[in-house]
Amino acid sequence: MARDNAIEPLALDKILDLCDASAAAGTPVTDLCSGSSMYDITPLVDFSCAGAELAPAIRYGELQGRETLRVRLSELYANEYGLDISPSRFLITDGASGALAIALMTLLDPGDQVILPAVGFPIYKTLVQMVGAECVFAPLDEEFKYDIGALRQLITKRTRVIIVNSPSNPHGAVLTRPEMEQLLALGLDVISDEVYRLLAHDHSAISFSELTDRHFVVDSFSKAYALAGFRIGYAIVPAKYASTARTIKATLNVSTSLPAQILAERVLQRHDTLIHHHRTYLEANRDLFLDLCRANGLAVVLRPTAGFYGLIDVSAAAPDSFELARDLIGRYHVAVCPSFDFGRPDPRFFRINFSCPPQHIQDALPKIAAFLKTVG
Ligand SMILES: Cc1ncc(COP(=O)(O)O)c(C=O)c1O
Repeated sequence: MARDNAIEPLALDKILDLCDASAAAGTPVTDLCSGSSMYDITPLVDFSCAGAELAPAIRYGELQGRETLRVRLSELYANEYGLDISPSRFLITDGASGALAIALMTLLDPGDQVILPAVGFPIYKTLVQMVGAECVFAPLDEEFKYDIGALRQLITKRTRVIIVNSPSNPHGAVLTRPEMEQLLALGLDVISDEVYRLLAHDHSAISFSELTDRHFVVDSFSKAYALAGFRIGYAIVPAKYASTARTIKATLNVSTSLPAQILAERVLQRHDTLIHHHRTYLEANRDLFLDLCRANGLAVVLRPTAGFYGLIDVSAAAPDSFELARDLIGRYHVAVCPSFDFGRPDPRFFRINFSCPPQHIQDALPKIAAFLKTVG
């Protein structure tokens, strides 16, 4: 099948397999590679559940997601931005991944073109391929944001959608309001992926929904609340696409896990506290990461301003970033995410998830430095 050739497995999956194999052989690996925040929110939310509370959760739920959860999300946007977004515009999905898939399936026909960041979250490319559309990779400027001038040159009659990711994975680049306005003015359908928005260290990230209600906004409980295992995400759907998006959601998996939705409502009740503690924890770890990079002579690609990733430049080392990451596991039992998945040519960095326990950062960074000295 042609698709088998087109859709490449992620290097990160292979790294995770190597970690599992090493652990099974008795040598656990320090995980700095995953995309989950490792911050533990369980002391801050009561997730205990009596059987009766789960009684409504044993059958299919509302296609759009529980109304109580959608009302709480609507209240969150009202409190945070003063926005009036009706609960009926929220579509609860299986993570932001589910929301991205639904948005792309809603907007695209086979052969349409989608603009993506040249260095960005690799799942965008796979999803675009899955709907039979074409990826157009747009260059980033020195701040790792879309280069608007270059972007305009890429637009053709077939360009339908642009994916915007602020703060971005992997760089953590945060778009300002004027930058978002410039993207909006391109006249394309926008899918704004905002899963790291609440983790901007200086609180500066804005939502596309502050500018317009005519484009898809995608968000998730995975990153901001460190709850990737719940698989709860959502899309804020433009009115004109509401019916199509809902039908696609129903076709894909009827309703999103009801037990997880019930527990997600409790998370929103503790929103302010959770976000405050999570950010404080991440900022301390970010500082530790930067101090240790400095002390060990590791070059960071840029100072992280959002989220929980730091990028270490490995461009001076010989093989590609995947081979390097694989050798690092074998020799030092430290797993990092290689830049190999994020763009072509390989941008040649290690993405470090610094949301792990601080001791792991302290132990691992000198090992990464020692390793890079042997391959540089
Ligand atoms: C930019 C970005 N968007 C979407 C997702 C998917 O998140 P979820 O766990 O909610 O499916 C991720 C996860 O790594 C991500 O980094």
